[in-house]
Amino acid sequence: MAQLAVNVDHIATLRQARGAKYPDPVTAAMAAETAGADGIVVHLREDRRHIQERDVRILREMVQTKLILEMVSTPEMLGIALDIKPNIVTLVPEKRAELTTEGGLDIITHFNSIKESVKHLQNGGIKVSIFIDPHLEQIKHAHKMGADMIEIHTGAFCDAITDIEQDKEFARIVDAAKIASKLKLGVNAGHGLGYHSIKRFKGLNEIDEFSIGHSIVARATISGMEQAVRDMLALIKAL
Ligand code: PXP
Repeated sequence: MAQLAVNVDHIATLRQARGAKYPDPVTAAMAAETAGADGIVVHLREDRRHIQERDVRILREMVQTKLILEMVSTPEMLGIALDIKPNIVTLVPEKRAELTTEGGLDIITHFNSIKESVKHLQNGGIKVSIFIDPHLEQIKHAHKMGADMIEIHTGAFCDAITDIEQDKEFARIVDAAKIASKLKLGVNAGHGLGYHSIKRFKGLNEIDEFSIGHSIVARATISGMEQAVRDMLALIKAL
């Protein structure tokens, strides 16, 4: 059975929107673990728009499953990762203006520098995953540079509107997962996955773990709304 790693970035997005102390991504991570999550994911972005370095440090102390740090491959971020030591680093591309990670990392163009980062992290005892589009050549290069695992970018599949587009994009994911598995790479998948799109993955046993954030955080805000309103009403009634 595939595992689920829960990304709590958008709990921090909500906190940062108010510059408040809550909601706390660490508390959300604890709740996710209690519910059975197999890992906790956070993306420490260069612009620190949601998760802060302090969050990652506290999560390192608190997470009992495994902590997965998504980050861009820069000297600053490598230093932070080697200091905090998450269980896994997922190397991702990052653009300041993007709303979320757009596209996988191009490890053909950046082969030498990414390979060096992979080795550096692994020498520090951290496993390395690389977030790539489901393209054969990218997967071969991930294998060639000695990555422990890949994360297949599922965004194009999740964003596809027509059945034909969806089928085409899903076929790419299937091929990518099977090739990566043959190469003995760990195979994760994520980006844009929701309560409907996840059903398509039935039987694709090559995927070891799904990394899901937005849809889970979004559902949590709605499914928790009734109780949150009841709690406030009870306090108001008691005034
Ligand atoms: N995997 C990677 C590499 C990501 O950058 C993200 C988004 O932070 C996710 C998975 C989770 O995507 P979503 O929030 O759409 O579930």
